[in-house]
Parts: sequence; structure tokens; C-alpha cells
Amino acid sequence: MLGILSNHSHKNCSMKNIIITGGAGFIGSHVVRLFVNKYSEYRIINVDVLTYAGNLENLSDIESAPNYVFERVDIVDAAAVDALFDKYQPEGVIHLAAESHVDRSIKDPLAFVRTNILGTVNLLNSFKRIHEDFEGKRFYHISTDEVYGTLGKEGLFEETTPYDPNSPYSASKASSDHFVRAYGETYGIPYVVTNCSNNYGQNQFPEKLIPLFINNIVEEKPLPVYGDGQYTRDWLYVVDHARAIDLVYHEGENGETYNIGGFNEWTNIDLIKVLCAQMDEKLGREKGSSEKLITYVKDRPGHDRRYAIDATKINKELGWAPSVTFEEGLAITIDWYLSNAEWLKNVTSGTYQEYYDNMYAKR
Ligand code: NAD
Ligand code: TYD
Repeated sequence: MLGILSNHSHKNCSMKNIIITGGAGFIGSHVVRLFVNKYSEYRIINVDVLTYAGNLENLSDIESAPNYVFERVDIVDAAAVDALFDKYQPEGVIHLAAESHVDRSIKDPLAFVRTNILGTVNLLNSFKRIHEDFEGKRFYHISTDEVYGTLGKEGLFEETTPYDPNSPYSASKASSDHFVRAYGETYGIPYVVTNCSNNYGQNQFPEKLIPLFINNIVEEKPLPVYGDGQYTRDWLYVVDHARAIDLVYHEGENGETYNIGGFNEWTNIDLIKVLCAQMDEKLGREKGSSEKLITYVKDRPGHDRRYAIDATKINKELGWAPSVTFEEGLAITIDWYLSNAEWLKNVTSGTYQEYYDNMYAKR
């Protein structure tokens, strides 16, 4: 497939070329699958360097589709990004590639500056360079609600909430959002940005709360709860995020930002208790046995107390709403991890254990 496509003139082909970056990662793989299956008139070019978080196994069901291509490219490498854009002349870019884990950003902020800021600017530069006019073109940046900083007990993040990032991760995402907007203002690139709440679902690397805790429960390892466990997050099932991305890419207004969230707030400890109860049941273990693994550990520095999204705009203007309840989404997620032990084993081999010991056990 790759061979045939690379002999093709990508410029004059009747298919529309769309680059999706970070397509081998958690959210990106759901977006690539949706676009490849739904839009046979698009050629989807998945651009991913395959860091620890990128895994082509996530896309094994669509890898031989005629409208799918994979390109292993580091978005930090400007010359490689230029060559990629010359080759495909993409009309659209849906940009998800990023370093995405807050705890890693605390240990190595520069990795986040490189990929999230420099990588985004490289994509913008190449996109700007190949297009003489931007009619029908679009650059879509996938961002996070964490750029807004933290909420107190009341209130929700709205699209007009000022940016106030607290972690190196959220600072790098805020910066890249600003670059996207600045390129829109300065060079006329048609862009759209979405800021989404915490995602969960199939194929999430077991460093984020939900898959880490599922994996630890399976292995009967401690569940490290940061601080007092009263931190609040707003959880959204990943497939619903992918549906929102499809909608915004096709129907969002240029120059606009949209918040995406499930109106689904949980304190960490309440969510962990629900997860523990479901895991006991599904694993056929004695009631209460997973909860016994809960271990309160030292807090994350700069830990944002509460995130919660007001998703009224995307609901009213584009008609998006989540398709599953949290209970349904969590059950699907747990079932997936339990029936994909091989996937979990593969992604936790290699340096994972070393990372884990460093990050949690010595906390
Ligand atoms: P992830 O860490 O699972 O995947 C990131 C992907 O990007 C991986 O496949 C990785 O190989 C690739 N990548 C990293 N550096 C790269 C580079 N230099 N060049 C090319 N590819 C590179 O991330 P995710 O959780 O799927 O998040 C995807 C996007 O959505 C990110 O931009 C993130 O900020 C945003 N987001 C995530 C969440 C969430 O809850 N996970 C919520 C809101 C927004
Ligand atoms: P995480 O999944 O890392 O997402 P984010 O920090 O981007 O919101 O963490 C979700 C919440 O769970 C956050 O408040 C930190 C907390 N947490 C723990 O208590 N223990 C853990 O081991 C992890 C990974 C997170």
C-alpha cells in the first residue's frame, strides 16, 4: 500500500489529502479510524513518530484500507515536515501529536516545548508555505481544557475563560494554541481549536489515571492517589471526542474555539471507588478487594484542583452531545482492557517498569 501510494502523484490525485498527526496515539487512533471508515473520498495520512505513547497496533483494523497511509515523521524536524507537506499537499491538518502527560512534563518540560510548541509551529509553517490561497483549507488544533488553569468549587470553563496554565504540559498547549491563532491573524490560515476535558477509553496508555488503575488492579499493585484525592476532573469517552472532532473539522467556524466535555465531573476518589467496584465484579474478586489497594501518596506539584467544561457552545451551534453515559463508557473501557491483555502486556514491556518505579513507587 505504502509503495503504491509513494509512486503516485499526490498533488493531482482526486482524493483530498488530510494529515492527522499523532494518529497512533490514544485519541488520534480513534480519530483516524473514524475518518478512514467514514470518508472514502479522503486519503488520511497518519503522521506519527511513534514515541512510547504511539502504537500502530491501535490501528490494525484499518491499516490496509485504501485511503490510509502511515508516515513516520517527527514534527520537531522542520525539513521532514516540509518534505511531507510537499509530498501530500494536504488540504486539511488535524493536529493531535503531542507529549500529553502532566507528570512527565514536570520531569522533562523541554520535551513538551519541543513537540508541543516547536512541532506545532513547524506544521503551521509548512501548511502556510504550500498554499497560495487558503480557500477550502483548514488547520485544526486539538487542545485541552488544562490551558484555563484551575477552577474553585463553582463555575465552568467557557471559551472566553482566560488562559492561565499551571503545568509545563498545559503551558506548552496554551502556547501552541496561541501560535495557531496568531498564524490565523497574521497569515490568514483558516483554523479552529477545540479544548477538551479528560478522555478515557480503549487504547489509552497506562500512565493516565483510569488505564493505570485498571492495570494495577489486574496486577494487584497499589493505586497511588495523589494528595487528598479530592481533585476533580470532567471525563469524556474518547469515541465521543472523536465524533466532536469530525463535526468541528467539517462544520466549525473558522477562527473559533469550542470547548468539549461531558458535563461529567468526578472527584478522583469517587471515580476510583466506582472503578474498583466494577473491577471486583468483572474479575470475580471479593467485594472491596480492589479498594484495599488504594494508597495515598505525595501530591503532584502544581496540581490543578478542579476542571469542568461548559460544552454549551458546541452543543447549541453544532448539535454535538456525548453518546454514552459515564457508566456505559467505563464498562466498555474496562471490558476492553480485560479482553486485550496482550495489548497491555506489549505497552508495559520495555522501559515501562522503570518509568513506573521512578514515577510512582518512589513517590
Ligand atoms: P497520546 O500521548 O496518547 O498520543 C500522542 C501521539 O503523538 C503518540 O502517538 C505519539 O507517538 C505522537 N507524537 C508525540 N511526539 C511526536 C512528534 N514529535 N512527532 C510526531 N508524533 C509525535 O496523546 P492523547 O492522549 O491521544 O492526546 C492527543 C492530543 O489530544 C494531544 O494534543 C493532547 O494534548 C490532546 N488532549 C488530550 C486529552 C486527554 O485526556 N488525553 C484531553 C484533551 C486534549
Ligand atoms: P491524569 O490522568 O494524569 O490526567 P490530568 O492530570 O491531565 O488531569 O490525572 C487525572 C487525575 O488523577 C489528576 O487529578 C491526577 C490524579 N492521579 C492520581 O491521583 N494518581 C495517579 O497515579 C495519576 C496518574 C493521576
